[in-house]
Amino acid sequence: MYKSKITGLGKYVPERIVTNNDLTKYMDTSDEWIRERTGIEERHWVVPGDGNTTATMGVKAAKQALQHANLTPKDIDFIVFATLSPDYYFPGGGVQVQKMLGCDTVGALDVRNQCSGFVYALATADQFIKTGMYKNILVIGSELQSTGLDLSTRGRGVAVIFGDGAGAVVLSRSDDDSDILSNHLHSEGKYAEELTVKVPGNQNPPNKLVENWDSEDLSYYPYMNGNYVFKHAVTRFPEVIMEGLQANNLTPQDVDLLIPHQANLRISQFVQKKLGMKDEQIMNNIQKYGNTTAASIPIALTEAWEQGRIKRGDIVVTAAFGSGFTWGSNIIKF
Ligand code: UT7
Repeated sequence: MYKSKITGLGKYVPERIVTNNDLTKYMDTSDEWIRERTGIEERHWVVPGDGNTTATMGVKAAKQALQHANLTPKDIDFIVFATLSPDYYFPGGGVQVQKMLGCDTVGALDVRNQCSGFVYALATADQFIKTGMYKNILVIGSELQSTGLDLSTRGRGVAVIFGDGAGAVVLSRSDDDSDILSNHLHSEGKYAEELTVKVPGNQNPPNKLVENWDSEDLSYYPYMNGNYVFKHAVTRFPEVIMEGLQANNLTPQDVDLLIPHQANLRISQFVQKKLGMKDEQIMNNIQKYGNTTAASIPIALTEAWEQGRIKRGDIVVTAAFGSGFTWGSNIIKF
């Protein structure tokens, strides 16, 4: 069995910064409420028409990751693309990336696992490397969420949280000790309705939407049972981190950096406390980007690398929980 190594990291966020105060122009909210409940201070949102889409942002992050890995698109054997906000209903973003980067006719796989999309995508790529089928895989998480939010007061419980952006890694066959030591993936579909966007879907095809158009229908927008999701998140995060650590005979004290999906600073603080970890062991950047769903972990990984918080040989743990419900962790020897 081969080993997998992250050889390149990249990120991209749109230029436009939207502060909490900016949001008060659209809805009844406050900087104080948002900071206190989520830790978020600002997020990046596209300017409609600026050329940024989920796929193009993914490409920008991927180019940086390729450069970091010292590879060209021709070296890539496979693409895994995670998002909940694709440019098209179908096909998915993977093939758009293949075209825009000019990769050969390599396979492109789309992952639909929302907040845990990147953890699932990395685990998937890892299997292809481990079996020897591929040598270099682009793994991308990208989201353009801002254009699909209800910016009125009605939608404030969700709209203030989400941001746009993309992150990418190149996962390669390892020539040293670096490896993805294990992946741990879970789901509980009975909670699918607790965090969802239902329309459009095959139960609401375009003709039905046009006939029954109702601007008050909230099913066009993301719905989140916030308290409920929060309670499950604070249980599942520590659980799936410990599952991964125990599988490798590690303890929370052995972790050099934990990169939790950036869902809510309060969730990350709760997880840190529960596992008895120090501040320097946790990466938090939700303050600047909000929750960028499938992009949050690769953006945080890249930023941690840029800040010198990760070095070769470190134990880095990623963990995510979200819509589905789905959750998971990757235990990485960097
Ligand atoms: O990444 C995927 C997974 N997602 C998560 O893990 C998110 C988990 N959930 C959360 O992070 C939190 O539940 C939220 C941040 C979404 C909400 O925080 P909360 O403490 O659960 O607030 P709440 O929904 O219970 O609302 C409390 C009050 C309500 O007012 P009343 O009924 O007490 O008068 C809301 O209407 O806060 C009100 N509220 C707001 N007020 C100002 C809700 N959103 C806002 C807002 N600004 N943006």
